[in-house]
Amino acid sequence: MSNLIFKNIAQLVTMRGPNRLRKGQEMRDVEILENGYVVVQGDTIIDIGTGDGYRNYMDNNTEVVDASGLVMTPGLVDSHTHLVHGGSREHELTMKLEGYSYLDILRAGGGILNTVKKTRKTSFEDLYEKAKKSLDIMVCFGTTTVEAKSGYGLDFDTEIKQLEVAKRLNDSHPVDIVSTFMGAHAYPEEYKHNHDAFLEIVIKMLPYIKEHNLAEFCDVFCEREVFSYDESRYILEKAKAYGFKLKIHADEMDSIGAVDIACTLGCVSADHLVETKDEDFTKLAKHDIVANLLPATSFNLNKNYAKARQMIEMGCGLALSTDYNPGSSPTENIQLVMQLAGLKLKMTPKEILTAVTINGACAVKREKEIGSIEVGKKADLVLFAVPNIDYLVYHFGINHVKDVYKNGKLVVHNQVICYEEE
Ligand code: NIG
Ligand code: FE
Repeated sequence: MSNLIFKNIAQLVTMRGPNRLRKGQEMRDVEILENGYVVVQGDTIIDIGTGDGYRNYMDNNTEVVDASGLVMTPGLVDSHTHLVHGGSREHELTMKLEGYSYLDILRAGGGILNTVKKTRKTSFEDLYEKAKKSLDIMVCFGTTTVEAKSGYGLDFDTEIKQLEVAKRLNDSHPVDIVSTFMGAHAYPEEYKHNHDAFLEIVIKMLPYIKEHNLAEFCDVFCEREVFSYDESRYILEKAKAYGFKLKIHADEMDSIGAVDIACTLGCVSADHLVETKDEDFTKLAKHDIVANLLPATSFNLNKNYAKARQMIEMGCGLALSTDYNPGSSPTENIQLVMQLAGLKLKMTPKEILTAVTINGACAVKREKEIGSIEVGKKADLVLFAVPNIDYLVYHFGINHVKDVYKNGKLVVHNQVICYEEE
């Protein structure tokens, strides 16, 4: 097997350290090697260091990439997206600008329910093509692993269709997809007045999804006027019993006890956390739950931002994700999320990088395979055309990626997709 060597890397952000959630101060503990090198064999990293230590690995077949003037990071992990869905919702923009809230629009049958109608009508092939385009955009911005939720079907056939699209994409696209079943994303129009019946429909889907290996995680939108504390708990308890790992949409608009559910049921992550009470930060930290923050959603909805500084000070481990979806966060751009995390959440570049690499990997339970550049891990690597990591957060709204490698293979070159279709 021939080697692939990266040499003269201006800043090599290794994220070396324990393969677990990095919490509090640890999020700032980031190793950056100047004039670094990385050696890859097949899909795996076999050595890293500084200077010319890479020379020992050179033979006639070795490909050498000169990364002078570039920053290398681990492939970015976008650990909260609603990747697969039909249509878009630009016609709700005017309503939003006129002052209607996210929940006002949902109440009027728009929002998630609008996308549900479109997703039900869209064929498998069209959903696949649309999601593939988004994945291509994501990888061009440096994302190499994506979590993808269902939740725009709210009936058996469409939820399964969404999950099968994600599965097919995981097989055919270089980006890895971790699937989450989110049948409890909203009450569909036809069960608006019969919550109990809908809960049973969601529960009945669980064994099928498990048996067909269509999702690893189960997630619930725990929110006033959506799924109550009891309803959310009920679904996640059942999911846990079927062997799903858990996530929860927590405290996005209001705090109704989602963190309590996350702690007592052992959720892997609690996401949003905009309106979370201060005493709940300590609980998240104590239970090693990934606090997955989504500042692009706050930006797009013109809402409050999560209190990231306080969370870090109280020992939480933070991830950052796009929440890519057609309503509250129509963007695939993880770099914009990183920049908002700097400007709006007051996170430092090192904390931000921890959040989108190793902590993102923890949010999808892949921390042993990805999330850092160290011997034995997968060669998911991003080369950024920036002089240092501060620049990545400072110069906002553009794409800084030069090249992206997934499992040791070049998949984006000079910001253009170059992987071979499978
Ligand atoms: O994470 N909060 C619930 N779900 C998405 C929004 C989905 C939509 O509006 O279509 C979110 O913000
Ligand atoms: Fe979401």
